[in-house]
Amino acid sequence: MANIQESSRGGFSNKLGFVLAAAGSAVGLGNIWKFPFEVSDGGGGAFVVMYLAFCFMLCFPVMMAEIALGRKTNKNAVGAFAENGHKKWAPIGILAVLSGSLILSFYNVVAGWALGYAWEMFSGNFSVGQHFGEFVGNWHINMATSTAFMFVTIFIVAKGVSGGIEKASKILMPSLLFLILALMTYSLTQEGAMEGVKFYLIPDFSEITFETAYGAMGQAFFSLSLGMGALITYGSYVGKKDNMVSATSMILLADVGIAFIAGLMMFSFIFSQGLQGQGGGAGLIFTVLPGAFESIGPVLGRIIGGFFFVLLSFAALTSTVSLLEVPVSYVVDEFEVRRNRAVWIVGFVIFLFGIPSMLGNGTVDFFTNFVHYHGAEKAVNFMDFIEDLASDTFLPLGGFLVAVYTAYVWRGDKFKEEVEKGNPEFGNSLMGKYTIFALKFLAPLILGSITIVTILSKFF
Ligand code: PFF
Repeated sequence: MANIQESSRGGFSNKLGFVLAAAGSAVGLGNIWKFPFEVSDGGGGAFVVMYLAFCFMLCFPVMMAEIALGRKTNKNAVGAFAENGHKKWAPIGILAVLSGSLILSFYNVVAGWALGYAWEMFSGNFSVGQHFGEFVGNWHINMATSTAFMFVTIFIVAKGVSGGIEKASKILMPSLLFLILALMTYSLTQEGAMEGVKFYLIPDFSEITFETAYGAMGQAFFSLSLGMGALITYGSYVGKKDNMVSATSMILLADVGIAFIAGLMMFSFIFSQGLQGQGGGAGLIFTVLPGAFESIGPVLGRIIGGFFFVLLSFAALTSTVSLLEVPVSYVVDEFEVRRNRAVWIVGFVIFLFGIPSMLGNGTVDFFTNFVHYHGAEKAVNFMDFIEDLASDTFLPLGGFLVAVYTAYVWRGDKFKEEVEKGNPEFGNSLMGKYTIFALKFLAPLILGSITIVTILSKFF
């Protein structure tokens, strides 16, 4: 990662710096914690197919648009939309800042769970997998771990990431990839694993509904850190001559690849432990993995399990840094608040807003049974509600608005011009033509219609 967090508007030292920072933002809890339970709730292979289609066909063009917008305007999420006399479009940026802040509020709580589980695994307490409900219901522990996590995030965003975290991520991210690859290989050798692989990879197309498409769309945006200005903010630090097409492809492939491997590992473990069909929701990895680590052996299982959750926490950290950067760069640029002060204030407010997510797991009934959706069997808790609202609704909505803004307000030819500074062939290539077509027609149509239909049926 490069010096994106420093107070002067510096630039990435090179394209690799940008790709690593953006991939660090993309790869996180979304790939390893959220993706498996969304697939499980969404009916398996059909969800995976929709997710992949959204990533490659819609998220790729939106990601290009966000990065180009950031690079062109050199601004934060709100400033980028308001640039060049388009002041009345600034609310899209405000929506982005709001989405990022809401997501960070619950993401930080889950990151705290990962940290807590690292401790439990190192202590050899594998049975915590069967007591996930009690673990998250213990708000003292959760308060301690998520405070620690937010503190580290604030500290990094305030100090700049060019030093320690950049070096650390070069070692720790490949280590995480190596570890999940090894665990995936191990998981595939377990009895019953193939049933899991079939559930994961063979689509049952009767599972495709607006509701699952909405979930898959939200997951694609969440996992790729799209629709909330993170990549606009990061894009504002990309060099003019950099090849954006290859950078975008690398970020996308890294992110989708890690989610895919994590899914393969998880469904092999779920089916080999006979845990399929139990829902699991946000607790899925936390219930399934301790048993898997235990099966590796008492000592090795502790070490591998402990490191797994440490590395997962680290992956979450490179994402929380980018989540906090969006509201912070907005406050710094638009209100002229000193960066250090802005980071602490914004971080603290978001932390406070995360407390109901922490208390909604059995501690306080009001937050535990927070809303009852139209036609749903049971109420969802505060965290699930914020997740539905911010990641499944606001992010695709943000993506929709980015596409409309790029194609019709900023205009397709200006977007093309910007990309062509580093890719002279872009406009004439098939990919260039498709990207512009998708921004003009496909993304507005698909993102808009799925979001509207689902919102109307779910929330009203
Ligand atoms: N992409 C991150 C993940 O998959 O864990 C989450 C995230 C980070 C979402 C940054 C949005 C964002 F802007």
